[in-house]
Amino acid sequence: MQPITSTSAPPSPDPIQLMAAEMKEVDGVIQRRLASEVALINQISHYIISAGGKRIRPMLVLLFANALGFQGKERFELAAIVEFIHTATLLHDDVVDESALRRGRETANALFGNAASVLVGDFLYSRAFQMMVSVDRLRVLDVLADATNVIAEGEVLQLMNMHDPDLAVDDYLKVIRFKTAKLFEASARLGAVLANASASVEDACASYGRSLGTAFQLVDDLLDYEGSTSQLGKNVGDDLREGKPTLPLLIAMERATAAERMLIRNAIEQGEVTRLDEIVGIVRRTGALEATREAARTEADKARSSLSVLPATVHREALLEFCVRSVERSS
Ligand code: IPE
Ligand code: IPE
Ligand code: MG
Ligand code: MG
Repeated sequence: MQPITSTSAPPSPDPIQLMAAEMKEVDGVIQRRLASEVALINQISHYIISAGGKRIRPMLVLLFANALGFQGKERFELAAIVEFIHTATLLHDDVVDESALRRGRETANALFGNAASVLVGDFLYSRAFQMMVSVDRLRVLDVLADATNVIAEGEVLQLMNMHDPDLAVDDYLKVIRFKTAKLFEASARLGAVLANASASVEDACASYGRSLGTAFQLVDDLLDYEGSTSQLGKNVGDDLREGKPTLPLLIAMERATAAERMLIRNAIEQGEVTRLDEIVGIVRRTGALEATREAARTEADKARSSLSVLPATVHREALLEFCVRSVERSS
C-alpha cells in the first residue's frame, strides 16, 4: 500500500495541464479581440492562430502573475497581447525568411501572399497596442513598446548578418537575445509588473525570461539541423538554405577540416541547397549540435537560478519545468 505521506519530492507539474483553465480564458480574449470588419484580416488571423502554437509566452505571463499572487483579470489580456505580438512577428518573419511551413500548415505568405501577411501582421501589432492602452498601466506600455522595438532591431541585425561566415558568436547571441529572448523577458516581467513586485523581483523575473528565451532559440537553431519537419511543423534545413550563420554552423566551422570549413563558408555565402546532407553530416560529426544544446543548458541553468526570488508554489515548479523542457524539446 502507498504510504499516506511521502518524503520524496512531488513530481514536477505539467505546466500545460496546470495552466489549461487559465489558457482557456486567454483563448477567449484572443477570439474576441481578433475581430475586424475586414474579412481578409479575420481569415488570415484566424488561420494562423487556430493552428495553435505552444503558447509559451502567454503562459509565462500567467505563471509569474500567479507565482507572485496576482489574480486580476488583466493577466488574461496581457497574455493575449504577448501572443498577438508573437504572432505578428511570425507573420513578418515568414515573409522575410520565405518560409513555406508554420505550425504544420502552409504559411500565410505562401497561401495569401506577402503583402497580405505583412499587413495582417501590422493589424495584430496595432491591435496589441490598443489592448495595452485598455489595461491602462504605463509600465505595461513601457515594457512592450521597448520589447517590440528591440525585436525589430533583432530581425534587422540578423538581416545584416546574413551570408556572413565570419560572424562572431557574440554577435549571433545579440541577435537571438533581441529577436526572441526579449519577448520572453517582457512576458515574465509583465507578470511581476501586474503583481506590483519590487524592482529586484521584477528584474529577476525578467532575467529568467531572457535566459529561457535564449535557450529556446539556441535549441530552435539546432533543431533546424537535427529536428523533424513533422514534429516541428516547420521545414528543417531552412537556415542553411538561406545562408543564416547560426551557432551550430559557427561551431562546426571551428572544428571542421580546412576543406569542410570551405564548404560551410561557401554555403553561408551563397545559401546552400545542393550539399545540404554533406553539411548536416559535418555539423553532426563535429559535435556542434551537442555543443549548442550545452550552451542552451547553461542558459536554462541561469534561468533556473533566477527563480530563487519566488515563493515555493506550484507555479514556480512549472517555471522550473520549462527550463528542462526548453533544452530537451524536439518540437
Ligand atoms: C517560434 O516560436 C519562433 C522562435 C522564437 C523560434 P515558437 O516555437 O514559440 O512558436 P509557436 O508559437 O509555438 O508556433
Ligand atoms: C523567429 O526567428 C522569429 C522571431 C523571433 C521574430 P526564426 O526565423 O529563427 O524562427 P523560425 O524558425 O522561423 O520559427
Ligand atoms: Mg523564420
Ligand atoms: Mg527569421
